[in-house]
Order: sequence, then C-alpha cells, then structure tokens
Amino acid sequence: MILEGHGKYKMIGESPAMLKVYDGIERVADSNATVYIAGESGTGKELVARALHNSGRRSDRPFVPVNVIGIHDSLLEAELYGVNRRVATGVDKRDGLFIRADQGTLFLDEIAEMTERMQADLLRVLQESKVVPVGGNYSEPLSFDVRVIAASSRPLREYVKSGKFRTDLYHRLHVVSLSLPPLRDRGDDVCLLADKFLESYNEEEGKNVQFHSSVYPWLKSESWEESNVRELQNAVYGAVVWTEKEELKPKDFLKEKEKKEGNDGSKWIKIIDGKEESLHELTHKANLQIIKRAVIREGNISAAARSLKTDSRTIHRYFSEAGLSAKDFK
Ligand SMILES: Nc1ncnc2c1ncn2[C@@H]1O[C@H](COP(=O)(O)OP(=O)(O)OP(=O)(O)O)[C@@H](O)[C@H]1O
Ligand SMILES: [Mg+2]
Repeated sequence: MILEGHGKYKMIGESPAMLKVYDGIERVADSNATVYIAGESGTGKELVARALHNSGRRSDRPFVPVNVIGIHDSLLEAELYGVNRRVATGVDKRDGLFIRADQGTLFLDEIAEMTERMQADLLRVLQESKVVPVGGNYSEPLSFDVRVIAASSRPLREYVKSGKFRTDLYHRLHVVSLSLPPLRDRGDDVCLLADKFLESYNEEEGKNVQFHSSVYPWLKSESWEESNVRELQNAVYGAVVWTEKEELKPKDFLKEKEKKEGNDGSKWIKIIDGKEESLHELTHKANLQIIKRAVIREGNISAAARSLKTDSRTIHRYFSEAGLSAKDFK
C-alpha cells in the first residue's frame, strides 16, 4: 500500500509534520542547491534524499549514496575523489564517487562524523566543483556537475558549537535544510506505517497475521526513540515471524522490545530533549513507559503496582488515559 498523494515519494504518513516534509521536497527537488537533511536515526533521511533525486531534474542520472562513518580518511578520499593509475604498485585508475555521480546526486550520509581534514577537503571540492584523484603523478583537476545532499542523525549545530564541525562547511551544506520529525511526533502515522509493514511482511512470510485493535493505542503510546521507523519496521517483522497466532497483541511486541532496550535510562533523555512540554506532561509520559514495562515484567497489574510501590488504581488510570487495556498485556 502506498498512500495516494505522496506515492511518488514512496513515503507513508499524513501527519502535519510529514506534510511539511513533502512540501519541502517539492520545493527544492528541481534545484541544484545543496540540501541538508536532519533527523534522528531511522526517521527516513535516505528515503527523503532518494525522493529529492527521483522527483528532480536529475532523476535519470545516478543517485550515489555514501556513508562516511568508520571509513578511514585515505580510503574515503580514494572513494570520493578517485585514484590515479600507479604503475609501480599496479593500482588501476578508478573514478571517484563525485565523477560517478556526474549530473546526478551524491548523498553524503552521517556527515557529522567526518574528520577535520576531510571537512577541509570537502569544502574546497564543493566550492570549486572539481576533484583531484589521489596518488600517482599530478593530474589535472576533474570538473563535475553533482547535486549534493548531506545528512546526519547527530545534531550538527552542536558539533559546530563544540568545534568538531567547520562553520563554513556547515553553511555550505545548509543552503536549504529539511528536518524529519521523530516517529513519536507523527500521531497516527505510526499506525499507517505498522499496517503497511504488516501487509508486506505477511506477504513475504506467507502468513495472514492481523493486529488486535489494542495494538494501535499501544503503538501510539510507545516512544520509538531507539531508531524510529526502522525500529517499528523490525518490531512488526519480528512479531510476524515469531507468532504462531493469527492476531498480534501489544505483549507480542513488548517482550522482545524490553529485552533489546536494556535498562540504562538513556532512552528517556531523547524523549524529553528539546521539547516544549511541561514537566508534568513529560513525567506522565515517562511514567507510562515505566508502568507498561512493569506490567509486562510482573505479568499482572497488582504485582506491577507492588513492584513500583504504587496502587493498582494509578496503573489503571494511566492505561485508560492512553486507551490501553491491562488485559492486552497479559
Ligand atoms: N515515511 C516512511 N514511509 C515508509 N517507510 C519509511 C518511512 N520512513 C522510513 N521508512 C523506512 O524505515 C527505514 C529507515 O529509513 P532510512 O534508512 O531512510 O532512515 P535514516 O534516517 O537514513 O536512518 P539512519 O539514521 O539509521 O541512517 C527504511 O527501511 C525506510 O524504508
Ligand atoms: Mg541513513
């Protein structure tokens, strides 16, 4: 199922936050300007980069993605700028990604992780629209015509403030920027996405599993702060593969999620980060997550209440406010 209207982007979601993203894609797709895409891990940055490419003038030319994380500088240089033939070592001449993406789009992912030296090189290359392949004898710089899209799941602005990312490159990349909202801020989109993933994994696995109606309020009550849409996608996949039943309930997802998350408390930080919500609302949200996990762990409400040193009424109140039912967690 691909939603009408945004079908050409192959993106699911109708929340106001996502409509803003589609509008942004529409506005800048045809331009040659560099676009910076911000968004937490798994929010769809690469999908947006592809949508920009596919709906722009360069769509019949290559889209070349490269993730700079963990690639040593000398290797990344060779990858991006190419290699000259080296007679002595028998290394063959190879085009770099800037040349291979000529007239198309180069997608530089996780740009915040680039080293200082690579940042300086990249700025020069972008400003001159020319690359010099590495190694061998001096060669003429090669011109390219490439649209650059950059992304990072790290807050690049913070990296600039702490001196880890060059201000000039930051501005060079941010000619325009698009920001992907975290999944927890997309309202009912989480349900649309889950339905879509269920449909495709059913097909893949030759199954006919359905969601119990309690799954939808539960999906909306989770924060998906680990890796957003990717996390949801894998949660549905895991549940479809694992279940022997026809109908999935929240508990069929939660046990696995609980195991993966561990308990270091770091996840709460993302939920409360940079939000204009009152302390009361934030505390309420965090409490609901803690309560859900206690009910799963303890197996019933009264045991969960005891372990959290509260009463069952409190837990029931939290559940009914979130549209959840205790029996779905048993
Ligand atoms: N709006 C959406 N509709 C459908 N699928 C989506 C949507 N957003 C993300 N996905 C899917 O979620 C997964 C993660 O998306 P993507 O790789 O684009 O995210 P990302 O932000 O680049 O992640 P990372 O930060 O880990 O690199 C992909 O399988 C993608 O197809
Ligand atoms: Mg990515």
